[in-house]
Amino acid sequence: MYPMITLRPATLNDVPHLDLWDLEPHVISATSDDPDAEKAFGDTYWPDELALVREDYQYFIAELDGRPIGGMQIIDPHTERTRYWGDIEPGLRAIDIWIGSAADHGHGYGAEMMRLAIEACFLGPEVTAIIIDPLASNTRAHTFYQRLGFRPEGIRELGEDNDICLVHRLTRDAWLKPLSGE
Ligand SMILES: CC(C)(COP(=O)(O)OP(=O)(O)OC[C@H]1O[C@@H](n2cnc3c(N)ncnc32)[C@H](O)[C@@H]1OP(=O)(O)O)[C@@H](O)C(=O)NCCC(=O)NCCS
Repeated sequence: MYPMITLRPATLNDVPHLDLWDLEPHVISATSDDPDAEKAFGDTYWPDELALVREDYQYFIAELDGRPIGGMQIIDPHTERTRYWGDIEPGLRAIDIWIGSAADHGHGYGAEMMRLAIEACFLGPEVTAIIIDPLASNTRAHTFYQRLGFRPEGIRELGEDNDICLVHRLTRDAWLKPLSGE
């Protein structure tokens, strides 16, 4: 049975959660290879970041039975204004995911969050694939994504800090395959 996870848009009321999660060591190490980093997501100031939300740049909060446990970002990497992914084809979505407390890891919540997000992304008929950018060093996350059907497609340096990421991709066809029973 799936855990009772729901996703809802993040609001300014979520800033205290997001700030706390930014201080969790596993969230910090998932967003930076800098061993001296003290906070996740660089110098992101959540009220400003949430003000950037548009149709192609969205944040969600995952709740377990009504308790906020983690965040997700879903963007259209071709159109969103920060141009994080540089030149990239249309018809994609890019997802980021983090669960705040280490006590909430390893219970299948992340897999369920991804399942809900992937389903939502592929509701758009124009979406042919979903990409993600775990740090090349985050090998546990690679396993997590590959179990969900994502395939590694190469190392890229991304973002202002030129983070070394192992980009993964889940195509619509790969996502549909288990459903068609092949
Ligand atoms: C990655 C993450 C979202 C997975 O969610 P989860 O609920 O812990 O995962 P599930 O229970 O559905 O699946 C378990 C798998 O997740 C991965 N995982 C578990 N803890 C992890 C951690 N601290 N960091 C990275 N991956 C982790 C492992 O592959 C694990 O499989 P294993 O138990 O066989 O090693 C969550 O662990 C997390 O938020 N980690 C820190 C932030 C992060 O790495 N985000 C991804 C950046 S791109």
